[in-house]
Amino acid sequence: MKIIIVGATGTMGKHLTSAFEKEHEVLRVADKGGDMQVDITSTESIETLFKKAGPFDALISTAGPTHVGPWKNLTDKEFRKGVEGKMMGQINLVLIGQHYINPKGSFTLITGALTHEPQKNFANASTANGAVEGFVRAAAIELEKGIRINAVSPTVIENSPQYFPFFPGDIPVTMQQLEYGFRKSVFGANTGQVIKPY
Ligand SMILES: NC(=O)c1ccc[n+]([C@@H]2O[C@H](COP(=O)([O-])OP(=O)(O)OC[C@H]3O[C@@H](n4cnc5c(N)ncnc54)[C@H](OP(=O)(O)O)[C@@H]3O)[C@@H](O)[C@H]2O)c1
Repeated sequence: MKIIIVGATGTMGKHLTSAFEKEHEVLRVADKGGDMQVDITSTESIETLFKKAGPFDALISTAGPTHVGPWKNLTDKEFRKGVEGKMMGQINLVLIGQHYINPKGSFTLITGALTHEPQKNFANASTANGAVEGFVRAAAIELEKGIRINAVSPTVIENSPQYFPFFPGDIPVTMQQLEYGFRKSVFGANTGQVIKPY
């Protein structure tokens, strides 16, 4: 299977790349590093990526930039980071990518537990997550040729200890649990699901 991982150089993406490249052809994509680059806030950049990458069987996105910071400092400018990044960036990967993905392919987007369990400083991510999850359910009934779409929604993950203090009471999701959430989406039959890997 040819799998494109957007966000491959990040904490999640590095783990998923090393897990999946043992059995599949993985194209590592990121803003700066990786095999190929894309800026998901630009539709031109996404179109260029898919033209260069060629047909593929699965796209995983772990690229979801958002603004993290105190509520009282939030303005339209900060909020647009998540709207144009995690929300529209991932939505555009699907809207454009559907014209390049092979029949019976799959899209797997990243959201997070913040959708339903907000934490201080993360209003931007909560909002973007909710939009992406709504999009996943809607896209699942529209995509043709057997193409599936799901989101993976973990709470804080074990390789991100810098975020532990922001998630009191949450047992961090192990990297293996995270990986198996993505496995369920990419290699399973479900569509329109929000997969909680915990
Ligand atoms: N870490 C957690 O505990 C956790 C838990 C639940 C949900 N999440 C969500 O999961 C996602 C990934 O988390 P992470 O910890 O793996 O993040 P990360 O380590 O910061 O990695 C983010 C990846 O996305 C890429 N990226 C960022 N902006 C991009 C853009 N405009 N265009 C293309 N690629 C871009 C980065 O590439 P460059 O390095 O080249 O910029 C990097 O490869 C985030 O949306 C986060 O909200 C994280």
